[in-house]
Amino acid sequence: MKFHILTLFPEMIRNGLQLSVIGKAVENNIIAIDAVDIRDYSMEKHRKVDDYPYGGGAGMLMQAQPVYHAHQAVTGGRKVRTIYVTPQGMPFTQTKAEEFAAEEELVLLCGHYEGIDERVLEEIVTDYISIGDYVLTGGELPAMVMVDAIARLIPGVLGNGISSEEESFHNDLLEYPQYSRPEVWHKKRVPEVLLSGNHSKVAAWRLEQSILRTADRRPDLYARYQARKCLISQLSREKRNHIHMIESLARGRAEVLYMDDGMEADREEAGNGKTVNETNVSETNDAESMGSMDVVLYDSRDRICMISARTAASGDKVARCVPESAEYVVASHEFFDIFFNGMSEEFQGNRKNYQLCGRYIPMLYTCKAALSVKWKKSIPWKKSIPWKNSIPWESIRSLSEADWSLLERITAEFDYGICCNGKKIRTEEQVRDYLQERLKAGVMYGIFAEENLAGVIGMHKGGSVGMLYVDLPYRRQGFAASLTAYLVNRMLEKGWTPYACVPADNMAAGNLLDKLGFYKAAKEVSIYQREAVQP
Ligand code: ADE
Repeated sequence: MKFHILTLFPEMIRNGLQLSVIGKAVENNIIAIDAVDIRDYSMEKHRKVDDYPYGGGAGMLMQAQPVYHAHQAVTGGRKVRTIYVTPQGMPFTQTKAEEFAAEEELVLLCGHYEGIDERVLEEIVTDYISIGDYVLTGGELPAMVMVDAIARLIPGVLGNGISSEEESFHNDLLEYPQYSRPEVWHKKRVPEVLLSGNHSKVAAWRLEQSILRTADRRPDLYARYQARKCLISQLSREKRNHIHMIESLARGRAEVLYMDDGMEADREEAGNGKTVNETNVSETNDAESMGSMDVVLYDSRDRICMISARTAASGDKVARCVPESAEYVVASHEFFDIFFNGMSEEFQGNRKNYQLCGRYIPMLYTCKAALSVKWKKSIPWKKSIPWKNSIPWESIRSLSEADWSLLERITAEFDYGICCNGKKIRTEEQVRDYLQERLKAGVMYGIFAEENLAGVIGMHKGGSVGMLYVDLPYRRQGFAASLTAYLVNRMLEKGWTPYACVPADNMAAGNLLDKLGFYKAAKEVSIYQREAVQP
């Protein structure tokens, strides 16, 4: 990833980011930081870049021309996400850091003096970001803060093999207290449970401490944590149908954009002393059959919007909340087709680029017990599966970018791009790009036999299990089950509920998951994608 930082003080950036983890990542060519001196693009004699503001007022303003030319020089006119760091921006959060980390290149523009001429901002800036509600003397420190937070999410920068996809930071809870040697210091003992060696007790204690600490130090975060928990429990009334939403919330990936549990209307109704008439009764039944609430969630990192609604009428309202930036829309109910195809003119502009990718059946693994990856002779609660070979779990590993050629070779025949009644909805190039992106995100796993990559599995954007593929010579030997079990176990370790969205016509995948103990949802979900290929 490349950061271009447009600044009047390039030395400040170079000095600030040359040491420690970020300095090492630059040295190892994992990231590049290009500090660009805006003065180099001034057309004035003395490299002047500022002038008085029209209309008067204190201080000087950075002029449009040098900023524009510096920007043109680094982007060459290409569309590159350009962040203006300013106290007037959106708050910088972990979610934002993750969203920016998905870009190949970023431009960060640092202001000075009283700001920058508005006209150039209108032309080049895509995001206005603030690092907090206080005013600093310039944008260099905020830019460095952002580079640090974004860069550490890029695979290889931290060098500990933890993929940022799997890192659970922003579950709205602060870290629990930590202790190191000695066991007693200043007469204070390390909490007994941490010495017990009992992993589940340690995990429970840490969660409890996180909750207590958050309630004490950050009541705002704690309120969000509770609201999220409450929404999860409401959605859990139809767990199988809402599993993608529940998991996105539980894994700290999705934010709530809109929510209406229908209680307000009921309360109003009660307050007005009205009786529930015939129409209301049928609406209520309709609501029950379609789901329990109107919800719009957005996973801004993967640009997935998840919508669910009680009725077709509320579906229309809900679907209007889909953000402009959403690349995928996962809709829980069929009537969204009506919405996407026959919606009002006003919203057509934004929505017409969405195309139905297909209908999927969510399947979830609710049992907490790990699956055996090696010899899966039997599963405790299901009938036994006839395994031909024993598969040593060591033969499964996480794939890295260095494995791309292997992955590319075995997935050449991969029909992941062909679904929706056999209609091609993605080009081969789009499938390749997607797999490459997933590989880079560190969420693809491969099974090796005789040194060959025999099969793969991965975690889709949004967090479902998928992209399962076994090369022809290795089929019918339990490789697919082993790969699935491996990924399920990794997810269970994180306290997640593993789930998959199986194309409604993919019987083989459905049967495999069924054998492994996954349960099917009663309702299908429709997945729409922006700018998918026209058949
Ligand atoms: N420039 C000055 N203050 C700032 C802040 N709080 N965040 C981002 N950029 C800034």
